Amino acid sequence: MRIHWSGRLGFILAAVGSAVGLGNIWKFPFITGMNGGGAFVLVYLVAILICGLPILMAELAIGRHSQCDVVGSFKSLTPKSKFWKSIGWLNLTVTFIILSYYGVVAGWTLDYLFKSICFSFNNQEPEMIAGMFGELVTNPTKQFIWLTVFMGLCLIAVSSGVKKGLERWNKVLMPTLFIIIFIMAIYALTTSGAKEGVMFMLYPDFSKLTINGVLEAIGHSFFTLSLAMGIMITYASYMDKNEPIFPMAIRIAFLDTIVAIVAGLAIFPIVFSVGMEPGAGPGLIFKTLPQIFATIPFGSYLSILFFILMAFAALSSAISLLEVLTAFMIDEKKYDRKKATIFMTIAVYVAGIPSALSYSLLSDVKLLNGMEILDSLDYIASNYLLPIGGLLIALYTGFILDKKIAKAEITDEGRNYLTIFNIWYFAIRYIAPVAMAIVLLTKMGILKA
Ligand code: PHE
Repeated sequence: MRIHWSGRLGFILAAVGSAVGLGNIWKFPFITGMNGGGAFVLVYLVAILICGLPILMAELAIGRHSQCDVVGSFKSLTPKSKFWKSIGWLNLTVTFIILSYYGVVAGWTLDYLFKSICFSFNNQEPEMIAGMFGELVTNPTKQFIWLTVFMGLCLIAVSSGVKKGLERWNKVLMPTLFIIIFIMAIYALTTSGAKEGVMFMLYPDFSKLTINGVLEAIGHSFFTLSLAMGIMITYASYMDKNEPIFPMAIRIAFLDTIVAIVAGLAIFPIVFSVGMEPGAGPGLIFKTLPQIFATIPFGSYLSILFFILMAFAALSSAISLLEVLTAFMIDEKKYDRKKATIFMTIAVYVAGIPSALSYSLLSDVKLLNGMEILDSLDYIASNYLLPIGGLLIALYTGFILDKKIAKAEITDEGRNYLTIFNIWYFAIRYIAPVAMAIVLLTKMGILKA
């Protein structure tokens, strides 16, 4: 008998734990900043509804129906087709690549948490604080230490199993994360930048929205829900048949979106209160925010809270990636859970070493267009592998998978959600694949935005 979540809450917190990650707290605020604030938020909400949500429901249906890991799922649903069986392998490979460098970036959040706890940003000049980032990434010893600590934590969580590991950890990580982000948002709304920050996030300035912004929203709706990595398929394989898919998917998408928006409301007012630029881009978290924390009231404590938030978000996402790999070893290779987790953690750890050394010993190695190892892997995975995976899953569910299976999963064997099924089936066949294809062709330079 396959092990199942102990209930709805366990599943939802784990899935939300995976979905809420650096994408919500770091990427969403900064791409919103660069694409006209509220107008981008609106487009993003539409993208979640017509693209992210349908693919999320498809993954939940596939995983719950097959009750096995990502490779086994496609094998059991379409045993005859070699091509479609290979989607499982694609998902597995992407997961492996992403986890290998995600562990390195997550390690940085641990280092910044440690720095915050030691009050290292106090009384420092802004340039000194901004320089700390460069110091960290060019120090190979520190990179090793933090990568090891982070992967060690993932190992402990995943090796303890679905109920004692994934559920128990997420039941602590997620509520803490929600509380911290709300405390930060409330604080931010009392600062002098509150009005400007809220206006910036919520006032739709359509003149700043470009076609590129729309494509970015579609791509992000997909990344932020952890799709095309086999995560939702694997997590849904531990789902009970009695749990309806649609309400679960709605809750996951809703909570994920709320966290992203509240993260923006927590960050922008603070940024505006000290007169800094909202469109600072990727450096926002590790360079700009610590400088701000060093100057505002209660800043050192906020900094600790903020980096706990980041570390928790990274941990619950990394756990979900490691679970995909572990479930594969358990289901397909018949390893026991401990052995499977240890094997995969070591494999990912070793594969992560080049990324960890990207800016120090291996800084001369450039893979894509002069980018370092870590940046190149991230670029390939998020711009190509994930959209290809998403496109294939949508086409697979809409055209290859037996319609009866899809219908039975979404409608609880024909009892509920019939209209939802019809809308979903249309979206998964026509809207999601077209949207994904446009994103992909634009990234490849074949379509011009
Ligand atoms: N959904 C995550 C986010 O928004 C993306 C992610 C999940 C990345 C799992 C890596 C691992 O950040």
